[in-house]
Amino acid sequence: MEHLILVAEDDSHTRESLRRAMTRAGYRTLTAADGGAALDILKSEAVDVLLSDLKMPGMDGMTLLDRVRAEFPETAVIILTGFATVGLAVEAMKKGAYDFLTKPVDLGKLELLLGHALEARRLTQENRELRLRLRETAGLKPLLGRSAAMQRLRETIEQVAATDAAVLVLGESGTGKELAAHAIHYGGARAERPFVKVSCAALPEGLLESELLGHERGAFTGARERRKGRFELAHGGTLLLDEVGDMSPQTQAKLLRVLQEREFERVGGTDTIRVDVRLITATNRDLEALVAEGNFREDLYYRLNVVPVRMPPLRERVEDIPILAAHFLGSCAERWGKPVPEVTPEALALLCRYPWPGNVRELQHAVESMLVFSRGGAIAAEDLPPAIRGDERTADPAERHSGATLRDLERQAVLRTLVATGGNRRKAAEILGIGLKTLYRKIQEFRLQ
Ligand SMILES: Nc1ncnc2c1ncn2[C@@H]1O[C@H](COP(=O)(O)OP(=O)(O)OP(=O)(O)O)[C@@H](O)[C@H]1O
Ligand SMILES: [Mg+2]
Repeated sequence: MEHLILVAEDDSHTRESLRRAMTRAGYRTLTAADGGAALDILKSEAVDVLLSDLKMPGMDGMTLLDRVRAEFPETAVIILTGFATVGLAVEAMKKGAYDFLTKPVDLGKLELLLGHALEARRLTQENRELRLRLRETAGLKPLLGRSAAMQRLRETIEQVAATDAAVLVLGESGTGKELAAHAIHYGGARAERPFVKVSCAALPEGLLESELLGHERGAFTGARERRKGRFELAHGGTLLLDEVGDMSPQTQAKLLRVLQEREFERVGGTDTIRVDVRLITATNRDLEALVAEGNFREDLYYRLNVVPVRMPPLRERVEDIPILAAHFLGSCAERWGKPVPEVTPEALALLCRYPWPGNVRELQHAVESMLVFSRGGAIAAEDLPPAIRGDERTADPAERHSGATLRDLERQAVLRTLVATGGNRRKAAEILGIGLKTLYRKIQEFRLQ
């Protein structure tokens, strides 16, 4: 791969001779006569190494260095300096410059230095990629989404991950509760220890208890061997109790005892077992209502709900739909070795308009089935399942949003139109039938970006 070098130098003679030398050495080379022009190039090109003079009219080399470190951390900076300003160059290295050379530049030294800088950069990149891949194989998938609600959620998860408190993840089906539980485990001190999951809804009464606590040989018919329970398997790590709202009263009582005493016996056993487990529970049911109805123990509820984490439904964060759709389209296409198809603006607008009762999981399945049926070209409105395409006759927005305030509806309308126009404000204002200024005011008012 050809490396890109940017030379920022106000003296045209030096600039030209550097450009010629770099080109001769096999690098792609661009030049700028001051810091401002260099920044413009950095914004549009992936520059590997910036060679920058210190004294330049307009933005000088030191200011440029600050900006590059903050905005383009991938770019290595080599400072060029006269003898009189060697002190400044040392200052620049403290600020993160890779190295400096005194003028007149010894081209042999420069080539050597460039080679080192590129090698160091390659190693840091490789390192980061390895770390990323490690996290992925550890099971960490990022919670995607740029909506304010999603950003807040990621912050909450980060804070919660740093503690050892019991977490109750609440949210409709398919909102990413399990993903959030993963993120809490892998973002915390127990990341290297096991993450164990049990679904309380999947197992019949009685079996859940032995699944959680384990059992001794002969504890009940079919218990041919002694078996460790999930609490024991999660020792040192995290236990996710999914669908905890579906737990029977008996098992609730057992669980409460384990949490209070921090020890238990296997079913049919007498040995006391102590475990150190962080508990995360999740449910799509309204636990508070279950408590009020007497179907969920209040004392257990308080123990589980030390920190509640609420997953926002997808219909309340329409701005995440295009990002998620593109993500699922990309990963699914990769899995099946298909090219990633485009989505027409009309199809995207329909995806944004549909209320997604099954939330992110429903979107994922819809996108995957779109890909199965796609005939190679862009995915158009006709390719969407009928339910998502929507029947024009029932496409009355007020009907779909009964219960929403007028302000909510207005925000949704502005947001959906912006998403559908790919952020083109002029076009969005036209569609909405308002002036551009009014649109800007609404964007500010509703904090849409
Ligand atoms: N913000 C997100 N970014 C990327 N993928 C997501 C996001 N939210 C959910 N998903 C994906 O959507 C699917 C459903 O998520 P998950 O299983 O965590 O939901 P859930 O709330 O546990 O659902 P259920 O209530 O049905 O158990 C998963 O494939 C998950 O990876
Ligand atoms: Mg789940």
